Amino acid sequence: MKILIIGYKGMLGNELVKVFKSGNNLTLWDKEQIDISNRDDVMTKVGKLKPDVVINAAAYTAVDKAESEKDLVYKINGCAIGFLSTICKEINALFIHFSTDYVFDGESHIGYKENHLYKPINLYGKSKALGEKMILDIKPRYYLIRTSWLFGKYGKNFIETMIHLAEEGKDLKVVNDQFGSPTYAKDLAKKVKELIKSEKPYGIYHITNSENCNWYEFAQKIFEFVGLKPNLRPVTSEEFPTLAKRPTYSMLVNTKISLMRPWEEALKAYLIETGRIK
Ligand SMILES: NC(=O)c1ccc[n+]([C@@H]2O[C@H](COP(=O)([O-])OP(=O)(O)OC[C@H]3O[C@@H](n4cnc5c(N)ncnc54)[C@H](OP(=O)(O)O)[C@@H]3O)[C@@H](O)[C@H]2O)c1
Repeated sequence: MKILIIGYKGMLGNELVKVFKSGNNLTLWDKEQIDISNRDDVMTKVGKLKPDVVINAAAYTAVDKAESEKDLVYKINGCAIGFLSTICKEINALFIHFSTDYVFDGESHIGYKENHLYKPINLYGKSKALGEKMILDIKPRYYLIRTSWLFGKYGKNFIETMIHLAEEGKDLKVVNDQFGSPTYAKDLAKKVKELIKSEKPYGIYHITNSENCNWYEFAQKIFEFVGLKPNLRPVTSEEFPTLAKRPTYSMLVNTKISLMRPWEEALKAYLIETGRIK
């Protein structure tokens, strides 16, 4: 298959490249090759390439910074997805795009199924919801995959931040009132391949590692696995304000595809693969 991966330099993009490189004709683009928020760029370049599949892992992902860059974040996470959907429809390419648990308000303690109406509470979430709407309105052949709390070897992540701060001997305060599912980018990338092969109906899918936790529990498990004992204290979101409000419960309920391994197992695998533990 001729596959175009956009955003290949990102956390998820890197893992997608590894999963799809064998047996496919891959084209890899990031900011240097295309600006997805530029309509002409998208229509001309993707139109000329004519891939069978377009996997878009490019996005504006700085959740707090997004609060002060409304125009830019809406262009990249919203309008750009309209351009990509339009060209995919025109050339009949399968469009794979990623969205987030942050499209929900976080008030449902039982989590959110694929068909739940979005109601974002921060700008990043609103921009990603606009991207989703573009796909649903334009209707290319698509898999819209919502995921959450990504961690991986490429780029900054919560695990490395925690370990780094602990190694510096810092006291750590981590919120214990936001719940979700940490997800290993490598596992997600593999599942995307499985989804394409499965030829399941086009639509919205929730793909995360299974089981839930709060950020404090996530931090506790990291330190337990790596054998560090920092002064770690649970705090509420009120005690630890951020520029962008986060949803309280953002568990994505998956009713459509087989579950991935629990996040604790995925965390352990990540720590082994990065040489943190044996
Ligand atoms: N990270 C998470 O916790 C998380 C959670 C849920 C869902 N998601 C979603 O999962 C997907 C992948 O996230 P990620 O964390 O892997 O992202 P990431 O590491 O931030 O990578 C995104 C890539 O897209 C590039 N990019 C940004 N603007 C672009 C543009 N206008 N044109 C072309 N490329 C552009 C970025 O370049 P620069 O770095 O140079 O800007 C970067 O290489 C995104 O859709 C994200 O919303 C992520």
